[in-house]
Amino acid sequence: MADSKASLSIDGNVIADLPILKGSAGNDVIDIRTLGSAGYFTYDPGFLATASCESAITFIDGDKGVLQHRGYPIDSLAKQADYLEVCYILLNGDAPTKAQYDEFTNTITNHTMVHEKLVHFFHGFLPDAHPMAMLCGVVGALSSFYHSDLDIHEADQRMRSAHRLIAKMPTIAAMAYKYSIGQPFVYPSNELTYAENFLHMLFSVPAEKYVVSPTVARAMDRIFTLHADHEQNASTSTVRLAGSSGANPYACIAAGVASLWGPAHGGANEACLTMLEEIGSLDRVDEFVAKAKDKADPFRLMGFGHRVYKNFDPRATVMRETCHEVLSELGIKDPLLDVAMALEKVALEDPYFIEKKLYPNVDFYSGIILKAIGIPTNMFTVIFAMSRTVGWIAHWDEMLGQPGQKIGRPRQKYTGEIDRKFIPLSDR
Ligand code: ACO
Repeated sequence: MADSKASLSIDGNVIADLPILKGSAGNDVIDIRTLGSAGYFTYDPGFLATASCESAITFIDGDKGVLQHRGYPIDSLAKQADYLEVCYILLNGDAPTKAQYDEFTNTITNHTMVHEKLVHFFHGFLPDAHPMAMLCGVVGALSSFYHSDLDIHEADQRMRSAHRLIAKMPTIAAMAYKYSIGQPFVYPSNELTYAENFLHMLFSVPAEKYVVSPTVARAMDRIFTLHADHEQNASTSTVRLAGSSGANPYACIAAGVASLWGPAHGGANEACLTMLEEIGSLDRVDEFVAKAKDKADPFRLMGFGHRVYKNFDPRATVMRETCHEVLSELGIKDPLLDVAMALEKVALEDPYFIEKKLYPNVDFYSGIILKAIGIPTNMFTVIFAMSRTVGWIAHWDEMLGQPGQKIGRPRQKYTGEIDRKFIPLSDR
């Protein structure tokens, strides 16, 4: 609904009256869809001021440090709900009743196994392949298993693919890990919770019974919850863009995995641990903080800063608590964790970081927790991808359910050559 209008004038001439649309919260948006007919495009590389869609899933107020899924604040969800409850909320819009929760949990639990043929895909990878490379390839390959029975215009069929993806991602992620360390794949166990089952598939071996620690399972579930969705970030926007052409959801999620991989996004938790290893000891923290502040040096403190949160990252607040809880409950002593805590302190007190509003983000603490519970660094982004799958698929489903949905197709400011005379190769 248009509440007011903005006029766009160029050299004093009004060239377009643009409706201003209000959401239920957050910034109003100027609807520029008719601007093309006036002969102009907007220019916003990096989408610094562009709303690409209408969505009712997640609300963020970066200045106030607010994050809500379907209106529920993230700290309440992290502390009072489990991950599958959050998945239900993201997909369906409201918190489930006990019966709905039980049915949903049961559905996810019963979809955790993958087709045995999919297992064979792993054997084509080199053992030292990055698990994100395996995840990207194998998730994309799911399209070949679930293509013919999928009509993306049918809401119940879209929901079925959402359930499959949420259920199978941990199985595929754990297989990538087991393959990379040369251990046999561990099949899912329906007796366990979602987080427990993932830990079981990661850490158990046929020769020995593995008992899941409740502290570790709780921390893992919280990591899943805090990464479940984050509005129109790079990977979610990638999934929406891929899905806007009508592509298969498994292929769209593979695109999301690829987009998440980069160190400016989901790869930050791995990059953060690599950085802590490079720093190595407490006496080198100041040197690295100075490097991060030096404009001539491209080095950045990984795990610090966020495009949207300029006050604090509300997920980081909960993750920080969990991090300290896990470290003390497990009685972990690790020099890298001491480096991380020292870095956190220095950066929080340093004027450069304060002025630029660079706070530790969720990935700073999640990396430390994952390391403390024995998960190798190259699995960090895989776990992020697993957790974010529900967000990706909820956005994909929302987009396809909206009337008049169009293929995503940005325009450009062209800066190349024009109207050149082509000379055949023989004459050049
Ligand atoms: N260390 C040192 N300086 C930094 C850092 C950092 N981590 N992050 C930003 N800055 C500085 C920049 O140099 C820039 O300084 P300038 O204004 O003097 O040029 C200023 O802060 C603003 O930085 P931008 O890159 O313009 O901010 P943007 O919002 O585009 O980037 C980003 C946000 C990508 C997260 C950035 O802070 C960063 O690279 N952080 C490290 C990587 C990271 O942790 N990513 C995880 C994001 S959270 C997630 O995906 C779950």
